[in-house]
Amino acid sequence: MIYLDNAATSWPKPPGVLEAMARFLTEVGANPGRSGHRLSVEAGRIVYAAREAVAELFHAPDPLRVVFGLNATEGLNLALRGLLRPGDHVVTSSMEHNSVMRPLRALEREGVEVTVVSCSGEGMLDPGAVLAALRSNTRMVVLNHASNVTGTILPVGEVGRALRRMNGPLLLVDAAQSGGAIPIDMQADGIDLLAFTGHKSLYGPMGTGGLIIGERVPLREFRPLIRGGTGSRSEQEEQPDFLPDMGESGTPNAVGLAGLEAGVRWVLERGVEAIRAREVELTQHLLDGLREIPGVTVYGPADARRRTAVVSFNIAGMEPSEVGMRLDEEYGILCRVGLHCAPAAHRTIGTFPTGTVRFSLGAFTTREEVEAALRAVAQLARG
Ligand code: ALA
Repeated sequence: MIYLDNAATSWPKPPGVLEAMARFLTEVGANPGRSGHRLSVEAGRIVYAAREAVAELFHAPDPLRVVFGLNATEGLNLALRGLLRPGDHVVTSSMEHNSVMRPLRALEREGVEVTVVSCSGEGMLDPGAVLAALRSNTRMVVLNHASNVTGTILPVGEVGRALRRMNGPLLLVDAAQSGGAIPIDMQADGIDLLAFTGHKSLYGPMGTGGLIIGERVPLREFRPLIRGGTGSRSEQEEQPDFLPDMGESGTPNAVGLAGLEAGVRWVLERGVEAIRAREVELTQHLLDGLREIPGVTVYGPADARRRTAVVSFNIAGMEPSEVGMRLDEEYGILCRVGLHCAPAAHRTIGTFPTGTVRFSLGAFTTREEVEAALRAVAQLARG
């Protein structure tokens, strides 16, 4: 079996992730930040260690600004719902996932104005077009860092630094596909809000992720998605007004966060640059090989340095769903086909409504696996 669906979730996980989760369940098990006994204190320490690891990876201003939740979608909803009000204007790109587009369309019905800046057929965004779309009531710019359809890396740092120079609107970045796969520095890149997920290139388990809230974000105006117990200020019936508690109610996924910390530590030990260099090489090999197969159309930039390890393609005369099924059944190759929850991105690259076949590589993908995938696609394309 060859697993080429790392953009949906990375698999396998590095050594240490399962062990950290098993240790939590067998030796710790208690509720973090609630009780004062030793196991609760240890659980709290583990959750804090996950905060520290995530903050280090993204150069966040403070681990306490890491608000944990289920995934990047929850982090994005928290940022959008938390800060946008009727009469506000928001600028986004035409390469966004539905985790951005659906909350934005719902907010639009409540009176938030939305401008979608068009990207090129390769999914590339012109930073100047984002700046030109700003208005006096623009509250936020929301950008996908790397497309889950084409892998195209959007120039979020360029936009972020320009917004900082003009003391402009907040920048929210969807780092679901880029976190751990390409270097991110919240402070140097001018990112005010970073939504991340744990189960992709941070190599943690599903059910971990969240939002990092930068120092330019006015906390007084921030509304949490849900309210409830936090283990702090228990005498009050109002939600705490400090981070991370204002955004984290109810018992957290501490066992998942134990695994997330191990995943992020593994990424930090290997180094994002080293993981990236290996993935660029393999992705270039895949791109070049696919382009040589007659009848295959490959989407997104031809240069792997301008994209993550996500490659979408189609075979002439075959539906993506048929290709995906045959790759699985006849070759043991697991990938994702269709619209990838990103209809806007598929409209941008001209593959709506049938979509594409998507191969997405990870840190454990080998050159032999890429070559086997290329042979399989060549055989299918020959008919
Ligand atoms: N958004 C994830 C993907 O691209 C799940 O597959």
